[in-house]
Amino acid sequence: MGRLPRKLQSKLAERVGDNSLRELPLCNGLVDFSSNNYLGLAQSPELSQMTSEIMESTPRRNGATGSRLLTGNHQLYKDLEDFLGKHHRSEAALVFNSGYDANIGFFSSVPQRGDFVLYDELIHASIRDGIQMGHAKSYRFSHNDLSSLREKLSTIRTPLGTENTVYVVTESVFSMDGDSPNLKALAKFCIEENCFLVVDEAHATGIFGGGRDLVCQLGLEELVFARIITFGKAMGCHGAAILGSMDLKKYLVNFSRSFIYTTALPPHSVATILASYQYLGSKGSELLKRLFKNIQCFKEQIRLLGLTDSFIESDSAIQCALVKGNEKVKALATKLQEEGFDVKPILSPTVKEGSERLRFCLHTYNTKEEISRVLHLVQFITQ
Ligand SMILES: Cc1ncc(COP(=O)(O)O)c(C=O)c1O
Repeated sequence: MGRLPRKLQSKLAERVGDNSLRELPLCNGLVDFSSNNYLGLAQSPELSQMTSEIMESTPRRNGATGSRLLTGNHQLYKDLEDFLGKHHRSEAALVFNSGYDANIGFFSSVPQRGDFVLYDELIHASIRDGIQMGHAKSYRFSHNDLSSLREKLSTIRTPLGTENTVYVVTESVFSMDGDSPNLKALAKFCIEENCFLVVDEAHATGIFGGGRDLVCQLGLEELVFARIITFGKAMGCHGAAILGSMDLKKYLVNFSRSFIYTTALPPHSVATILASYQYLGSKGSELLKRLFKNIQCFKEQIRLLGLTDSFIESDSAIQCALVKGNEKVKALATKLQEEGFDVKPILSPTVKEGSERLRFCLHTYNTKEEISRVLHLVQFITQ
């Protein structure tokens, strides 16, 4: 086997040097404050039973056998996309193999040369990668800051012709902060300024709007050009979809390379997504009540323990305590793990240097005692 080229070795050595080397952890059996399995669906036996029932009426059992444009487009895809359009109140839905694929497929193909993409500075890596693969110019605006967006728009608008489209992109729940933009104000702004708003709903899918998404909860479906929903987080399975108009779907089927040039999801994965929505239909309100109770409990404990200033304000299942420096945040996470809590450190360069953090993901199955114990530990260790 060939040795790793020297330049790559030195990049790895740099990561070791600044304490940011990424490694693959195994499941550790600790109290889960780190997975995206917010509603506990990933381990639900009922969900796998419901999936098996759907699979019984499916002739194709295992692989998809090809891309969706060739032989991979089985009936379950049609059932799922019809369902998603109705459920998420969108004219159309197009399923992708993952949220990463959906974002690179959208942002590399939709914005054209001469167009502009204005994106929140904390936007997910998959969106950045998609933008880089395309030909539009892109500018970032300050996090959740409408006046910064307005300022950026005014700098590009002067030389703009009418042919230039401006896309504005944000997340409804930011993956590394857990906070949300003022989506109502942002959507209104985009309509007034004739911009196309795109919202990544990865961490809101299945949680807000009664098992839908945050755009639905706020009644903004008609004001948003496209939404990206994903199924690998609260929905407990895998895959993603882009919600938008019939024409947008037709365009993506024709031009989105991460949709075209890949084998489709196997029937079992598509059946699991369908089953997951069915399951939420019957058990969703109880699960969501439990999740939001835990979010409230966590926030209340933060307040009682005097930790409010360390935490980023968030009403979602993602709660983060800022701890400056890779070394420090890693050491803190290790201590919490030694005490039985799976809390992950988020290091730079995943987040900006100086904004390293402990990221707590909350679930239906976390208990009040676990929340209280882990936050008491945080208080004890940090103060
Ligand atoms: C905001 C956001 N968008 C997209 C993705 C990618 O989704 P997937 O994990 O389905 O590829 C993630 C995953 O971490 C995410 O947090």
